[in-house]
Amino acid sequence: MPPRPVRGYNGAPRNLQQIDLAMQKTKLSTVMRERLLRAARKVMKNAYAPFSNFKVGAAILTSKGEVFVGCNVENASYGMTNCAERAAIFSAIAKGGPKLEIEAVAVTNDHGTPCSPCGACRQVIYEFGPRAIVFYRGKKGPTQSLITDLLPEGFRLK
Ligand code: THU
Repeated sequence: MPPRPVRGYNGAPRNLQQIDLAMQKTKLSTVMRERLLRAARKVMKNAYAPFSNFKVGAAILTSKGEVFVGCNVENASYGMTNCAERAAIFSAIAKGGPKLEIEAVAVTNDHGTPCSPCGACRQVIYEFGPRAIVFYRGKKGPTQSLITDLLPEGFRLK
């Protein structure tokens, strides 16, 4: 009898999953990218960031074509701060339930400085969007990366 294939998080044999990931979409239309960035810049103005003075906005695009936004909300007990990306994702789940599939994420900040999602947000993006494209400001200006490049070997329970 042939050996049973090793199965990955989505139930597909791992080798197929790798082909699937290799074929993943790495492009989004310019129109959609600009729409996400505009939404992120708009919601950024609502951030509560009196401690860092660093306002962040995020917008996510779901597989249903919906856009959800979030901004950072800080706290005097610094560790309780919530990032813009997670705010957007949690809002999407509150509205549409847990079957969220993230296609893309855009992140902006009010300093115009490099700002890619923090480690915690990368893990949360990966949970709902293992193929997500992330738009952010890198060291050389506006850029994009796959979440799997920002977070190789992301954690999964199964
Ligand atoms: N922040 C975000 O909202 N998203 C990121 O990707 C990086 C950091 C926030 C957290 C905190 O309110 C401020 O930026 C400074 O770290």
